[in-house]
Amino acid sequence: MKPKILITRRIPEDILAMIQETCEVKLWPEDDVPISRDVLEREISDIEGLYCLLTESIDDALLAQAKKLRIISNMAVGYNNINVEAATKRKILVTNTPGVLTETTADLTFALLMMTARRMEEASQFLRQGQWKTWSPMLLAGQDIYGATLGIIGMGRIGEAVARRATGFDMKIIYHNRTRKIEFEERLGAQYRTFNELLKESDFVCVLTPSTPETQNLIGKKELERMKPSSILINTSRGGIVNEDDLYEALRDQKIYAAGLDVFSEEPLSPQHPLLTLPNCVALPHIGSATVKTRREMARLAAVNLVTFLQGKKPPHCVNPSVLEKE
Ligand code: GLV
Repeated sequence: MKPKILITRRIPEDILAMIQETCEVKLWPEDDVPISRDVLEREISDIEGLYCLLTESIDDALLAQAKKLRIISNMAVGYNNINVEAATKRKILVTNTPGVLTETTADLTFALLMMTARRMEEASQFLRQGQWKTWSPMLLAGQDIYGATLGIIGMGRIGEAVARRATGFDMKIIYHNRTRKIEFEERLGAQYRTFNELLKESDFVCVLTPSTPETQNLIGKKELERMKPSSILINTSRGGIVNEDDLYEALRDQKIYAAGLDVFSEEPLSPQHPLLTLPNCVALPHIGSATVKTRREMARLAAVNLVTFLQGKKPPHCVNPSVLEKE
């Protein structure tokens, strides 16, 4: 008998077919409507595997009903939507999709940095709205990227890929991380800083740390006040790490120059959100890894994690591998 699994969103046909070879699949067939909590609660008690997205909250209450569940395969590198501790307690394996989205997400991070520094969204609106009357010396003048100091908070795979891009712009690279990365420092000429030193010194502060209870509100009023008035904040990691109310005030009062955000504490962000009234805030709808090739790779890797495990082998990317250890 094939194990029963649930997939919480439409995924590419060939990847679905690959899963169906070894699993009995229930599929939430929508593309732009997330699975409802009711359906998830109804289905969870009967499945051995769950293939889900970062839009699904897999919490303790849900897992309490997941009597047969053995694996949660998240189609994302971040897994803050899953209560991993609760899963581990119930011996449920959690897997994710690191690696395949590193370069794509670093590209978007750098694009946001460039958009905000050179006021590209504002400039494009200016032109479309018929406001372009003439070339003038200070019209839409922004900040330089080349030669500026880039401060990266969280030096993981994506942080390093952003730093590599920065070397092509002759930027000075500083970083803060829980542990120092000496080999990275030597290879890219990057320098370690304390968190406060980084905030004070950077022209661009780039948030690339995972979302954990410790990183909630990591950047709030106090931290924004430490940044230079000419500095720019970029967040392509997770909402909640930057306090949005404090950021709104800092941008409105020009305590910092601009912000580029791809992630928000509540997604989707309301079109009425105050941040969207500010010309110095560029906001994107969580598209860091959104290229056709990378999203396919993520979908495929999530499928490989799921199928490999259900066939009795160790999947390539386990978040809580301790559940695989024999007692
Ligand atoms: C996207 O945000 C991911 O975590 O993969």
